[in-house]
Amino acid sequence: MGFTEMPSNQYVETGFWNFDTLFVPQQHPARDLQDTFYLKDPAVAGKPDDKEFWENTRQVHENGKYGSIGYRYPWKEDESLRMVLRTHTTAISSAMLHKLAKDPKPTRLFSIDRVFRNEAVDATHLAEFHQVEGVMAGYDITLGDLIGFMEDFFNKMGVTNLRFKAAYNPYTEPSMEIFAYHKGLGKWVEIGNSGMFRPEMLEPMGLPKNLRVLGWGLSLERPTMIKYGVSNIRELLGHKVSLDFIETNPAARLDEDLIG
Ligand code: PHE
Repeated sequence: MGFTEMPSNQYVETGFWNFDTLFVPQQHPARDLQDTFYLKDPAVAGKPDDKEFWENTRQVHENGKYGSIGYRYPWKEDESLRMVLRTHTTAISSAMLHKLAKDPKPTRLFSIDRVFRNEAVDATHLAEFHQVEGVMAGYDITLGDLIGFMEDFFNKMGVTNLRFKAAYNPYTEPSMEIFAYHKGLGKWVEIGNSGMFRPEMLEPMGLPKNLRVLGWGLSLERPTMIKYGVSNIRELLGHKVSLDFIETNPAARLDEDLIG
């Protein structure tokens, strides 16, 4: 579908790229110690090279800019420079969009890589998992393009019955959760999160107003667990994994008899 892979091979980010550039306020609960792993050594990074972007990001949070009233709180550099294990691959998408602003044009990018969250570990949750993420930049694209794209994308995997539910992300507006009907479970299951990136995120980078950007993120483990009937995520990821199970299974595909 014309996507290029993003260079997502780094697990450590600053709060700046993981949160601030995504218009996540510094008081947001996702930034708590209970949700995010912070590094002890080194605990902080240097400032990014693009000082104008750094200032624009501060201003859009603190007082507002680009027609937005902002969050109106004192934005702290120290908080932004703290080093984190990335909580989503959207940190990479943000860096790639910042690069795109030097030569703006329609673009499709994807990544499949590991993320970390400070979660209570149980049969369906680990403190690390993988995300499948995509971003698409195009002149004057809309929420209709996002819905149409998601339908095409999942149709290719045999998932033909989708529902979209309004949701909230600090960096997208509107935002939508994506649900598919799971025949085996006899219910609608959430399979993804998506939205149109906010001007408060794109304009500080210098992207033109009419180059709109949509994005989505899926978990890799959840559909895999459904596909193979794996009830404990530890069988898929981590030190309890049977290498034999991994090596003898064919590539994961979502079949119509499972979801659709
Ligand atoms: N970052 C979101 C998540 O972790 C996924 C997402 C990516 C949503 C891009 C919207 C746009 O769930």
